[in-house]
Amino acid sequence: MILLDGKATALSIQNDLRLKIASSLANGFRPPGLVAVLVGEDPASHAYVRNKALACKNVGIYTEVQHEPGSIPEGQLIEIVQQHCERPEIDGIIVQLPLPKSIDPDNILNAILPTKDVDGFTVTNSGKLMLGMPTLAPATPLGIVRLLQHYQIATDGKHVVVVGRSRTVGTPVALILSQNSLYANATVTLCHSHTVDLRHYTQSADILIVAAGKHHLIAAADVKAGTVVIDVGIHAVSDSSKKMGFRYEGDVNFAEVAPLCSHITPVPGGVGPMTIAMLLSNTVDSYQHSLKQS
Ligand code: GUN
Repeated sequence: MILLDGKATALSIQNDLRLKIASSLANGFRPPGLVAVLVGEDPASHAYVRNKALACKNVGIYTEVQHEPGSIPEGQLIEIVQQHCERPEIDGIIVQLPLPKSIDPDNILNAILPTKDVDGFTVTNSGKLMLGMPTLAPATPLGIVRLLQHYQIATDGKHVVVVGRSRTVGTPVALILSQNSLYANATVTLCHSHTVDLRHYTQSADILIVAAGKHHLIAAADVKAGTVVIDVGIHAVSDSSKKMGFRYEGDVNFAEVAPLCSHITPVPGGVGPMTIAMLLSNTVDSYQHSLKQS
């Protein structure tokens, strides 16, 4: 079994980005800029945004985090997003999901200018992705594809089974891997909460991508020997032996499943760091596009 080391792969991507940015600064250009909008007090969202901001700082992306209370009216949040879009020194704007129930995420996400939509969640960029046009694509699916590529795991003609149909992971990764492009061409089955006999599908996967948000959904009996397993889930599980009082586990029961796999991502240290690396990569792409226009 080979561990797909997202942490190391992400670090090498971040090193390349750092060099790109340093060379741009040496040529007299401004640094790239990212604004992260964070609404409410969800501790996981706070941790994600903190990690994104830290990674930006490490590669030389100027970052602002705008934190607003969960009670903010939708209209006010839209105005905040629109104001950041008008700033020429800002290349990327993300709004951390989930948003409070009182806010329609589509209204907020579509207030982002598609050229600054480094999460790839706007209708425009989702539509371009669906049509196979060049665009800013969501970071987690990009991170998964990059990790497969890095470990030279072929996708062409393989059966990829995706569990979970979220807008952030499941739906876009199924789309990307089914397209007729260089690192895709898989036969993709997209399973979700209404799938009957999930095991029937997961057992036939060559590559199994689990993004269901359910702790230990996938056990040894769900996976055939030799499968490549990508675990997108992350759950804090109480553990008194840890300083923090908890440890992280995924949607896959790693201890049971790992011995069966040809490759598997650990949690933490698998998909998570790749998501952040691809967000930075999208921000630098958007930055370079903006410099070319000016
Ligand atoms: N919440 C979970 N994943 C993501 C992501 O990739 N981007 C944003 N903005 N929010 C998320």
